[in-house]
Amino acid sequence: MNSVLANIDQIRQSYSTHTTSQHKASLGQYFTPTEIAVFMASLFELKDKERYKILDAGAGIGCLSSALLQRIQDTYPHSSFDVTAVELDKQLITTLQHNLEMFKPAKLEACNENFIDFAYQSLLEKRQSYDLIILNPPYKKINAKSKERLLLGKLGIEVVNLYAAFVALSLELLADQGELVVILPRSFCNGTYFRPFREFILERSAIKTIHTFESRQDVFQDESILQENIIMHLQKGSTQDSDVCISHSTNSSFKNLKKESYPFSKIVYPADKDKFIHIPTTAQSDTQLNQLFSSNLEELGLQVSTGPVVDFRVKEELCFDLPKDQHVPLFYPSHFDGISSLVWINPQHKKPNALRLNEQTMKMVYQAGDYCIVRRFSPKEQKHRIVAHFLDQSLLTDYSYFAFENHLNVFHIKKAGLNSEIALGLTIYLNSNIVDQYFRQFSGHTQINVGDLKKLPYPNIEQLKILGLWANEYKQIQQDQIDQKVMELVQNV
Ligand SMILES: C[S@@+](CC[C@H](N)C(=O)[O-])C[C@H]1O[C@@H](n2cnc3c(N)ncnc32)[C@H](O)[C@@H]1O
Repeated sequence: MNSVLANIDQIRQSYSTHTTSQHKASLGQYFTPTEIAVFMASLFELKDKERYKILDAGAGIGCLSSALLQRIQDTYPHSSFDVTAVELDKQLITTLQHNLEMFKPAKLEACNENFIDFAYQSLLEKRQSYDLIILNPPYKKINAKSKERLLLGKLGIEVVNLYAAFVALSLELLADQGELVVILPRSFCNGTYFRPFREFILERSAIKTIHTFESRQDVFQDESILQENIIMHLQKGSTQDSDVCISHSTNSSFKNLKKESYPFSKIVYPADKDKFIHIPTTAQSDTQLNQLFSSNLEELGLQVSTGPVVDFRVKEELCFDLPKDQHVPLFYPSHFDGISSLVWINPQHKKPNALRLNEQTMKMVYQAGDYCIVRRFSPKEQKHRIVAHFLDQSLLTDYSYFAFENHLNVFHIKKAGLNSEIALGLTIYLNSNIVDQYFRQFSGHTQINVGDLKKLPYPNIEQLKILGLWANEYKQIQQDQIDQKVMELVQNV
């Protein structure tokens, strides 16, 4: 590492140690380690330009822009650059200015401003556009009544998080064919909240590269940040006709960097109106689930919903002991163990076991039946993100209704159960490795939402029945048996 960058990295580490976590959290202030900054700077496809206009939005002490300036100096020593670095925290400005001056920019503006105001004014006054923008934006929710939200609304930008606002505004400030490299949480790649943001990006730019890290902890390890981050390289105004480079490294040393190119249609599926961004990993290049199975829940006549019982809202109606008259079984994740073992009543768990039926709770219950259940949060020790269970009604024949707590997702048909083989087949399918790998391509969350389950491709009814009938023969099924059986289905497609 070059000595100027090494010095900046030391300042970063010292700042991180000596700054209170409250201050850091209040400003989303987690600076980028130099090895990541250098990698990000390496993604720009620099053209030999006489003078570059560069922007670092939410610049901190300039970790990112300094890596970019170093890269330009090394690649095109005769080029000069104008640098604008915008930072809200007044106490960082002197260090920021000092760090960037080391690279002798032709013009340097270290602006102590809110980037939203800065961008709004710049766009209003059509002040200037930038050739290269690099950023690690703050990750914070934007209050619905805030001034930021108002300004963004005026610009037609519909976002719920500061990081998305920073990227959207930066794209607006970018010159045609200009390049932007950002490190940001992966959470925007799926989910309906972020759909307008994904559309915004995809309408204005082409995705050149997406980089993912295997370890969640490693990226901002000094700061104990557990967000799953990705790095994205965009080019404004380009049509998405070239492939997208998906790169991957175990950690931030980038020593074992793996790259693969994918047609854009494998990243954002052409027919997907939600524009989910899929990030295939190298191992999965052959196993695109959506090419193997193509049914959706609607075609299967199935629905999936989050368990409607939020326990603290119906405290009075909960029952811990053996259910009395007027009570129905209330299922929590801890009532399920393995594919089809039901631990009800669970003496070890501290949760209620039943719900009393009355006018209010009647609306929350489902008819007793066979169901496929998916945990909304996978247990820490679980290798799979998706953990599905089969709820076998024959184990609980005394009840006409079942209640599902909010930490479960339930597959049902208009609040009634599924055909038994289909429910079991679906459970088997959802527990397969191939589904888990596919899920990880579009979700960085450990949380499984109904929206994600709706997005999955499914086998057809016949295939689900085959899986269910097969699983019925076993008391216990191993993971490799599941994977083999699901692949057998594929071979027979
Ligand atoms: C995640 S840190 C990244 C800093 C730097 N870009 C880096 O990569 O090391 C985000 C920075 O944005 C600054 N920030 C937070 N809100 C801001 C705002 N509204 N306008 C400008 N800067 C802001 C924080 O003080 C912090 O320095």
